[in-house]
Amino acid sequence: MKTPRSIIEPFRIKVVEPLSILTREEREPILKAAGHNLFLVAAKDVTFDFLTDSGTTAMSARQWGAMMVADESYAGSRSFERFEAAVKSLTGYGSVIPTHQGRAAERLMCEAVVKPGMKIPSNNHFDTTRANIEFVGAQAVDLVIDEGRDPRSTHPFKGNINIEKLRAFCREHRESIPFGMITITNNTGGGQPVSLENIRQASAVYHEFGIPFILDACRFAENSYFIKLREPPQSSRSAADIAKEIFSLADGCIVSAKKDALVNIGGFIALNSTQWVETLRSLLILTEGFPTYGGLAARDLEALAVGLEEALDERYLEYRLAVSRYMAEGMNKIGIPTVQPPGGHAVYIDAKEFLPHIRPEHFPGQALACELFLAEGVRSCEIGSAMFGKHIPDGTFAAASMELVRLAFPRRCYTQSHFDFILEGLEDIVKSKSKLRGLKLVYDPPFLRHFTARFEPLS
Ligand code: F0G
Repeated sequence: MKTPRSIIEPFRIKVVEPLSILTREEREPILKAAGHNLFLVAAKDVTFDFLTDSGTTAMSARQWGAMMVADESYAGSRSFERFEAAVKSLTGYGSVIPTHQGRAAERLMCEAVVKPGMKIPSNNHFDTTRANIEFVGAQAVDLVIDEGRDPRSTHPFKGNINIEKLRAFCREHRESIPFGMITITNNTGGGQPVSLENIRQASAVYHEFGIPFILDACRFAENSYFIKLREPPQSSRSAADIAKEIFSLADGCIVSAKKDALVNIGGFIALNSTQWVETLRSLLILTEGFPTYGGLAARDLEALAVGLEEALDERYLEYRLAVSRYMAEGMNKIGIPTVQPPGGHAVYIDAKEFLPHIRPEHFPGQALACELFLAEGVRSCEIGSAMFGKHIPDGTFAAASMELVRLAFPRRCYTQSHFDFILEGLEDIVKSKSKLRGLKLVYDPPFLRHFTARFEPLS
């Protein structure tokens, strides 16, 4: 049989930005000054920035071109019409409300619709969605399937919502559910997709109980392509066609455009009913801006309109999903365990398994993230005990359930030789991993520890 050809970056590069390539000796004092917290390292000192895939995309020539012809009128600009038409054509929803990013859309929805004591089910709520729901006194409820909580499970759709649990939950709490959600792809669970069949069933359950169904659709294109690849009855359909069906099954969506819409800033709410629209637009004017720009420049709306189309190009999606697959397979081959199967936008290293000699209270994920920076110039994000662990007053430590390190890949930014270079360097980390030491927490801020905490290496 012929070996399959390499999946190539389906673009050529017109604008370049130099990489900052420092030596380990140069990085050591930088990491020390940042308190071994990569959020406190300046971007200029990072070679490969995998902190997030959000707002870090490289835009296309078409997007930059569209930005130049933007109409920056305060009200009723031509760029808004173009953006609105692109969102309507993708989602089929009649009302489109621009916001400056995803969490602004979440906040507006919560302020307009959610009341204290209400409950909102989903597969997994993303952190900011949960925070916005809890901020108005309601409860964000996660009903992902059991496989979605098991890093070793190779279930093809680990983002699926548990339909039986969802039905029981809706039956019991119908009166206190203003809307139900599903996050595609499921970021909290590792960028795992949700199957079309599962979205169809969840839609049927929500609608059986008369509950509006709202998608958190910021990675809609990656999820659609996963469905094409992994859900046999859908393999002959286009990703665009699958995306249309997904949106048709829901009553609306909230979207951070900083992911699949291939822009550096932006978001929106789109709804098929006008029920909440007036309240949402009034709240929008209060804090985001007039309904035809919602806190964005018209040039951002133009870039977003083009990005929504480019996101569903299958050559792009084939390459996009190949990136995390390639990195995960490359790591697994040299003995670095990752959450299986690789998600769409990121690879999650299982630091607990990789560094069993570092106890959770010494932050194995953070220790590995620091080593990735020192050795490779890679900036990643610990999702483990440095983020969620707690020192209990009795002197013990409550560890997080998993010790993960997320490498989230910006879209269209890095090439295969960058990824090969990183994999080569990782081999040295694997060889000397028993020498890696944990960290101790020396500054523990009262909120959101991971952003500002400071650590020191254990001697
Ligand atoms: N929903 C999901 C599923 C997300 O992943 C994010 C952001 C948001 C909503 C909020 O959107 O950042 O535009 O306000 N995720 C980023 C990340 C921050 O790194 O995973 P936002």
